[in-house]
Amino acid sequence: MAPRKIIIDTDPGQDDAFAILFALGSPEDLEVLALTASAGNTPLAVTARNARQLLELAGRPDIPLFAGCPRPMVRPLITAEYVHGETGLDGCDLPPPRIAVQAEHAVPFLIRTLMDAPEGEITVCTLGPMTNLAMAMVMEPRIVPRIREVVLMGGGFFEGGNITAAAEFNIFVDPHAAHVVFGSGVKLTMVPIDCTYKARMTRQWIARLRGLGNRTGLQAAGMGEFYQRYGNTKFATADYPLHDPCVIGYLLAPQLFGGRDCYVAIETTSPETLGMTVVDWWGVTKRPPNCRVLRDLDSPAFYELMLERLARLP
Ligand code: RIB
Ligand code: CA
Repeated sequence: MAPRKIIIDTDPGQDDAFAILFALGSPEDLEVLALTASAGNTPLAVTARNARQLLELAGRPDIPLFAGCPRPMVRPLITAEYVHGETGLDGCDLPPPRIAVQAEHAVPFLIRTLMDAPEGEITVCTLGPMTNLAMAMVMEPRIVPRIREVVLMGGGFFEGGNITAAAEFNIFVDPHAAHVVFGSGVKLTMVPIDCTYKARMTRQWIARLRGLGNRTGLQAAGMGEFYQRYGNTKFATADYPLHDPCVIGYLLAPQLFGGRDCYVAIETTSPETLGMTVVDWWGVTKRPPNCRVLRDLDSPAFYELMLERLARLP
């Protein structure tokens, strides 16, 4: 089987970094066509820098990075330096990137690439606010049936939210973008915090990562240790979930995940529940499902696979 072609839309962020490295360590399964930077964990200039640093860390300066929209479609940008640090990748020590940001904006890049590729060839993975993909869908609706699948990290249901009581960060930052994507009819798989909270990164795993002896392991271990410090104040254990690599793990090993097809709506008006993913898990609305919602995860197997793939990088 030829590797699956993917575009990763990302706001690095330590967990985005693990996802990107996980994908780049799996070239026999995934062909990363490009990264597109979104504004989310940090402003766009920072996420665009971080994405290039990660491409160079993985020895893949050949993969292009396109910068996207600097703010959500309607709301003002909010960021999460309190989780990721001022650099967005605190915990690692990477040199300034040598590769340049592509001159083309990420939104026309997405449109051009999806229109030129054979129908159903490209999977879009969104790891941050979905502004770039939503803007592309608004500008050129014909891309929707051409996308093989959108796999997004975002949302929550029984777990509630992580930025408000009701909303998860990626959806909350740009709820209107999520509304566009969830209403587009695209084949959609959602990896919410209900699933990613089960992807608990342990101190033992970080020690094994550091022990790989490659530069990727050292830098990723530094990011993991920084990222865990925030978690120590949020979860009862020192183990902290890595959200975004679950998207890549699902593409590589879907058998490790479980979920069901549901109707999902996005709240875009209520001040209390703005950005909430209203997941009809029990099918009470009788509305046809528009999304596969993942909830279960074999976390030990997931982390073994990720370690094995990160070990392959420089
Ligand atoms: O809520 C977790 C999500 O928000 C992750 O994608 C993290 O990187 C942040 O973007
Ligand atoms: Ca992210």
